[in-house]
Amino acid sequence: MTKTMANKTVYVGMSADLIHPGHLNIIKEASKLGEVTIGLLTDKAIASYKRLPALKYEQRKIVVESIKGVNDVVPQNELDYANNLNELKPNYVVHGDDWKNGVQQKTRQNVIDTLKQWGGELYEVPYTKGISSTQLIQSIKEIGTTPEVRMSKLRRLIDAKSIVKVMEAHNGLTGLIVENAFVNKDGAKREFDAMWLSSLTDSTAKGKPDIEAVDVTSRLHGLNDILEVTTKPIIYDGDTGGIPEHFVFTVRTLERLGVSAVIIEDKTGLKKNSLFGTEVAQTQDTIEKFCEKISAGKRAQVTKDFMIIARIESLILNQGNDDAIERAKAYIDAGADAIMIHSKEKDGEEIMEFCNRYKKIDGNVPLVAVPSSYNHLTEQQLSDAGVNIVIYANHLLRSAYPAMMETAESILENERSLEVDDKCMSIKEILNLIPGTK
Ligand code: SPV
Ligand code: MG
Repeated sequence: MTKTMANKTVYVGMSADLIHPGHLNIIKEASKLGEVTIGLLTDKAIASYKRLPALKYEQRKIVVESIKGVNDVVPQNELDYANNLNELKPNYVVHGDDWKNGVQQKTRQNVIDTLKQWGGELYEVPYTKGISSTQLIQSIKEIGTTPEVRMSKLRRLIDAKSIVKVMEAHNGLTGLIVENAFVNKDGAKREFDAMWLSSLTDSTAKGKPDIEAVDVTSRLHGLNDILEVTTKPIIYDGDTGGIPEHFVFTVRTLERLGVSAVIIEDKTGLKKNSLFGTEVAQTQDTIEKFCEKISAGKRAQVTKDFMIIARIESLILNQGNDDAIERAKAYIDAGADAIMIHSKEKDGEEIMEFCNRYKKIDGNVPLVAVPSSYNHLTEQQLSDAGVNIVIYANHLLRSAYPAMMETAESILENERSLEVDDKCMSIKEILNLIPGTK
């Protein structure tokens, strides 16, 4: 086919994050068949099966609109083509032939079945060899990110995902684990979306108690190590935030570095870890004072993207859900961009009650949960209850410590390291773990 066929319409679905000659070839072939509409996958559609794209939908749209042969660009909100196809009833769908096998097989079959209803056809273009999005994504990872891009990613993730998965990182190495760990499950690549800079694990890794004794300057050194080797967004545990006059400096510093959010908790005086509950003396701040701190932080930030998240300690301090809900409303009015509710109860009941009542508060402000104690609840259950961000607050450190202690004791016991060798990664593995070691 060499000429555009009058009145024929062609639909091409794509993510178009990193445009390469393969995409251009598909569009060229599609335009030979008729008028081309690109179904541009939204962040939500892409996030349902892989990492959020580097470019936002609007940015990708600008790029795709400018490609020769493209007549129109419409959003495709799901991985599945059916909704858009049923609406547009194109004569053709054009796609690379690389989706015949693997995770996209089902989507492909569904396209064929849908098109059949009006006699439409699937036209497959041979896969362009020697170019791979996966390789390009790897190169982008090596180039890194900028503070602005990293910072704005958290809000994009909250919009795009039913629940944002956040894992604790307390140094460069754990940052790399959160950055790179993944599993392939149900045809999708599953990975963590963001990192939690926990005060508990930051302090513990330094051999210090979690009482704000490790100051912000010292914690920023650790943060910087993580920033240097990762690209995922970061949520910083700001403890109580200190006095408002100090908190504004923390906000500015974090924002400048490209941290996406700070969480501050409504405690005052000597802060102890929440998981002690009422076992240790802890004082909750007044609603009024804490609101002032939130507002001062909001006034200090420069960008629209940075988030100040207010953490409610009412359940930790046995003040009940009435108090927690009253505080949530007040903190939202004071400008909080999200609410974190914490609980140390194992059964998860008070958290579920909070979630149900929180849903009725106007404003649709995102909700954060930290299921360290009520860890039987699944992400699906939390998401159904209205939780937008789940934080695994301490698990990398908690799992590493027993393993290291076991090794230390085995060597003491046996006066050699042979017995513990199979518990350790090989010398070859550690030498190859960090790129550039060779
Ligand atoms: C942290 O990880 O430091 C937290 C969560 O603040 S918790 O330890 O549960 O208080
Ligand atoms: Mg903490």
